[in-house]
Amino acid sequence: MRIFSAAFILLCCLLGFAPSLQAQVDQLMPVPASMEIQAGRFQLQPSFTVSLRGADSPRLLPALQRALWRLDRRTGLRRGKSVQVSESAKTSWVVKTQESAKLELGEDESYSLQITPGQINLEAQTDLGALHGVETLLQLLSADSTGWYFPCVTIKDQPRFPWRGLLIDVCRHFMPMEVIKRNLDGMALVKMNVLHLHLSEDQGFRVESKKFPELTRLGSNGDYFTQDQIREIIEYANLRGIRVVPEFDIPGHATSWLVSHPELASAPGPYQIEKGFGVFDPTFDPSKEETYTFFQTFFTEMAALFPDAYLHIGGDENNGKQWDGNPKIQTFKKKNGLKDNHELQRYFNERIQKILTQNGKRMVGWDEILVEGISKDIVIQSWRGKEALAQAAKNGYQVMLSNGWYIDLCQPASYHYLNDPLPADLGLSEAEQKNVLGGEATMWAELVTPENVDTRIWPRTAAIAERLWSPAAVTSVNDMYRRLEGVSLRLEETGLTHLKNREMMLRRITNGQEIYPLASLLNYVEPLKIYQRHAQGIPYSTDLSLTRLPDVAIPDPKAVRDFNDLVDLYFTNPTPLGVKILTRELGNMERIHTQLTWQARQAPALLEILPMSEKLQNLARKGMEALNFIDHKTKPEAAWKQEALNTLAEAKKPVAESELAVILSIEKLIYRTLGP
Ligand code: ACM
Repeated sequence: MRIFSAAFILLCCLLGFAPSLQAQVDQLMPVPASMEIQAGRFQLQPSFTVSLRGADSPRLLPALQRALWRLDRRTGLRRGKSVQVSESAKTSWVVKTQESAKLELGEDESYSLQITPGQINLEAQTDLGALHGVETLLQLLSADSTGWYFPCVTIKDQPRFPWRGLLIDVCRHFMPMEVIKRNLDGMALVKMNVLHLHLSEDQGFRVESKKFPELTRLGSNGDYFTQDQIREIIEYANLRGIRVVPEFDIPGHATSWLVSHPELASAPGPYQIEKGFGVFDPTFDPSKEETYTFFQTFFTEMAALFPDAYLHIGGDENNGKQWDGNPKIQTFKKKNGLKDNHELQRYFNERIQKILTQNGKRMVGWDEILVEGISKDIVIQSWRGKEALAQAAKNGYQVMLSNGWYIDLCQPASYHYLNDPLPADLGLSEAEQKNVLGGEATMWAELVTPENVDTRIWPRTAAIAERLWSPAAVTSVNDMYRRLEGVSLRLEETGLTHLKNREMMLRRITNGQEIYPLASLLNYVEPLKIYQRHAQGIPYSTDLSLTRLPDVAIPDPKAVRDFNDLVDLYFTNPTPLGVKILTRELGNMERIHTQLTWQARQAPALLEILPMSEKLQNLARKGMEALNFIDHKTKPEAAWKQEALNTLAEAKKPVAESELAVILSIEKLIYRTLGP
């Protein structure tokens, strides 16, 4: 059962309706392409059986077994039965597919799901489609006083885009197997189908090479995936219908390779694994034949390890300093008629592309690899903007979007949700639109560890998954937020740690004391957004632990949106109940500081947080006073106004690389008192 907060229930009363326990038809995320809701329900009984028909599928049988366990864990119905491969007409849930797919870009992922009182029918051309249908069915599980049931519906569903990815950077901070696996489960739940592993960076080289074992011996500090582990990840992903695309970022972002291969760098070494963050100089030397000999061997090995048809070579942010400073490279450029570093990088990319093509791979790279004249047989991943994406699609390149989906930047889910890869004003013909394959959320790992990485990825990435799957017309932000809450719980049940790990981190900060006051403060606090955190004076590096306020604060906290709705509702409908609710909420904010001050006597990690709770206290007091003026239709004195404005200005200053997220709505209250 959902637990409704008191404020929410009061809000609902204010709006004139009470929350009811509804069937989950309006909870699906991503929203299906088409859905008809019918009367009636399929009541879930302990006798529930499943049968698998049609094509043999190594994916479906284990997926259905997992699905039954997930149902069992949620409902407590002791089924004690396994999936049958049978033609029996009596089965409760029939899953039928025509073929087991190859797991390639553009495979048929459609499915249809029909729930009637007597039977559930899931049909799909491929097992990939059926996997998506299984996730839809699980999200439809509903309950009321009669027990658990599925509402009767007919769903016909298919994705809007074929490339729906999540990039995980395992270099800035290494992300071990369990992080990857639990995130694959989360991706499957929201119908994402590409895991992009960013495997080499200045800060670490993260895959074992049998040909060049020194790459990890000297370039990884021991944090890397063995080839067996990579195979395990690929198999785990494959069973969930998810492709794994590896990225080896070259020629820049290359320090960790050059620790063991300084002879391939564009400037003399020695090199050390980078600990800081930013754009660094070490770059491969494109003028040396040895560079290409090395990559010939390396990519031949990696092409065999990673079965996907696509291989990503990065190509971003080569600052060109080492190239400019190397007379031999300058001579090479002149000799080959390459007029600038872009052309030199095109030369490099073309040599690499040849190696990849020989190995049956299609090359993917960031915007920067798109230089006039480069072959159309590459895929561009756009991180710098949608104009570049549109231009590339117009010019016949396949593209996918990541600009606007940098989830490391702690922006709200609404921002990511409304970022459409194909907005109507992009001016692309139908054929050109087909070049837009989809996109990827990017989890860059400068400021996350295995402990809190899930809190950055989820649940916001579910909003991106919906943008990539659901029809373009599905754009209601309020509705997305409403459904995101439920999906977040389902994601946690699959093993993601975005909720439970955060509680552990709070307990650690409070040194084992009650976490309620700190959790309450965090309802109103966000980590600094975009790249502001790096500008606050702390020299972030891989040496620092990430266990402080900005590491446990989450972007876009729900309580802030709820409070904002309450303020707006009060402005449109100023009732005594509204005043009561707002006063209570502001009172809760006001009290936190006293509680945390008390706890800080035994929790040194709280000390740097106290200025934040104090700002919230001051702000909440001004909010209550403002509300009082508004409610009594009186005007404050000039001195109060000045004080309130000072409090607001103070509240806006960051504390511990975090900021108060509730300022806007309290500011509205204060400004209302200053109005005409
Ligand atoms: C990138 O963010 N440099 C791809």
